[in-house]
Amino acid sequence: MRIILAGFGTVGQALAQVLHQDADRITQAYGFRPQITTIVDSQGSCSDDAGLDISLVLKTKKEYGTVARYPRKGRRNNDSAHIITNSEAEVVVETTPTNFKDAEPGLSNIKAALANGKHVVTANKGPLALAMPALLELANHRNRQLRFSGTVGGGTPFLDFAAKCMPGERIIRVRGILNGTTNYILTRMETASLTFEKALAEAQRKGYAEKDPTNDVEGFDTAAKIVIIANWVLKKRYSLRDLDITGITKITPQKLKQAKASNAKVKLIGRIEESSASVAPEQIPMADPTCVPDTLNALTFTTEHAGDITLIGPGAGGERTASAIVRDLVSIRQEYAT
Ligand code: HSE
Repeated sequence: MRIILAGFGTVGQALAQVLHQDADRITQAYGFRPQITTIVDSQGSCSDDAGLDISLVLKTKKEYGTVARYPRKGRRNNDSAHIITNSEAEVVVETTPTNFKDAEPGLSNIKAALANGKHVVTANKGPLALAMPALLELANHRNRQLRFSGTVGGGTPFLDFAAKCMPGERIIRVRGILNGTTNYILTRMETASLTFEKALAEAQRKGYAEKDPTNDVEGFDTAAKIVIIANWVLKKRYSLRDLDITGITKITPQKLKQAKASNAKVKLIGRIEESSASVAPEQIPMADPTCVPDTLNALTFTTEHAGDITLIGPGAGGERTASAIVRDLVSIRQEYAT
């Protein structure tokens, strides 16, 4: 399986590392060898039909900040959609940064890949948050797979659990914590009585929050994940603009104290109900299984016959997201002999 990797930041580099490390095991267990043949970053690209030397590409990125300096086969061409269109690789892995304004360059990369008969695995939420129904239709029309396990829950398989483990069961409602950064901030505001600003600065120092943490603290990251779950699991044609979204910027240590007095904690909760979806801070009883601390994610699926089922796990991080991408690559291979 030849792979084009579009985006070579934390997740892209972690994926290269994991594939390099696990190549023999994957070949033995699943009968195919995933090989990265092209990488595009924001300043250039490198390509080798025989498979890139991953140690060398990681070293080049570290030393020069771009794969354009990869010996002999690197160039200053970063026109990812054009590179995808003209490549013979079977799969595009899209890990460019999430952007909820126009979803570019991820949206064009995914469209170019599907239009050219390539399967897509994306860890980038932007294109799905803004255009998921259209992209699923395009993939279906082209008889290609569009997979996105790493967009929700990092390595914790929330999407696969709901879509694959419960055939015949009806999921009525979904609610929970889907953003590690805000959960960390709220936890620190409560346990160490920090202000929102101080807790945010700490989350940034620890590398949880982005330099621009707007998407996390204003609730857009959680909302994008809710859109993805709603479309995929509950077959609703939602996009970001269909949701009511409130972030955590107005939460004070006092509000957290009030919650504590009634044995509850304030959490940023994403919800999908029968005919609406939303993101807002809510008081959650401490005894509720979704009331998890620190950077954990937790999601409760309310089902018609099996009751409430909650999945808890780490929801972010390069290596964890890479693990979800590998799952998607394996399942593409299992469905199509690429
Ligand atoms: N910023 C996200 C979080 C990363 O904090 O959960 C994973 O989508």
